[in-house]
Amino acid sequence: MAIFKKETTAPVVVPQHIAIIMDGNGRWAKKRGLPRTAGHKKGANNFRTIADYMNKIGVKYMTFYAFSTENWKRSQDEIETIMNLFQDYLVEALERFHETDMRLVFIGDRSVLKPELVALMDKIETISKDNKGAVVNLAINYGGRQEVVAACKKIAQQVKEGTVNPEDISEDMLSDNIFTAGQPDPDLIIRPSGEFRLSNFLIWQSAYSEFWFDNVLWPDFSVKDLDRAIQDYSKRQRRFGGVK
Ligand code: FPP
Repeated sequence: MAIFKKETTAPVVVPQHIAIIMDGNGRWAKKRGLPRTAGHKKGANNFRTIADYMNKIGVKYMTFYAFSTENWKRSQDEIETIMNLFQDYLVEALERFHETDMRLVFIGDRSVLKPELVALMDKIETISKDNKGAVVNLAINYGGRQEVVAACKKIAQQVKEGTVNPEDISEDMLSDNIFTAGQPDPDLIIRPSGEFRLSNFLIWQSAYSEFWFDNVLWPDFSVKDLDRAIQDYSKRQRRFGGVK
């Protein structure tokens, strides 16, 4: 979709799906002599700001990497703080889901999360499922490789039961068996904080994604930084392996 934004003169193409790796909370806090948990609190507030802004400008799908399957290696205090931030947000989302009109979806393995948190996740997913605003995927205890392995197991089970023929296994079938089934792949993946890697995020879905890396740490990543990423994305020519 090409639109004119008021503050710019160039037309910008708003990506249909933007995915963000919210990195740099710890360094943000360290720079200020604060505990890492202070960085996560600031990062969680920034998630609210950026998600609301993307919803407002017409991004239809957004995915935020909030907690990876590898993040359990962190201190108990840090993990608990992040889980409490999720909980606070979900309680708030339950109050706000009419107003924002956003639909919340959780991607990742929730089987090891606290039952109270899972109950909130289930509730907000159900209650917001008919919302017409942006779909917000929150990746919690998410790992891209685990997601692909889980999809393979599901398909293998169908082969075993005789409902799927191995020759019929296709890319679409795999896409239909991952957490983001039915959603378009991310057009733009943003990673702030100066790191240039995907860290097991959306490895299947990112085959043809565009990337934007920024040195700004996530708690400082502003709507202006996002606008810059979208403006740059707008100038790119996506060929999906073809010729234009
Ligand atoms: C990576 O930065 C960040 C995380 C592992 C946690 C991200 C979590 C939040 C932003 C809170 C999410 C809350 C809601 C409500 C969605 P890092 O800690 O690895 O930073 P560093 O690389 O500077 O140490």
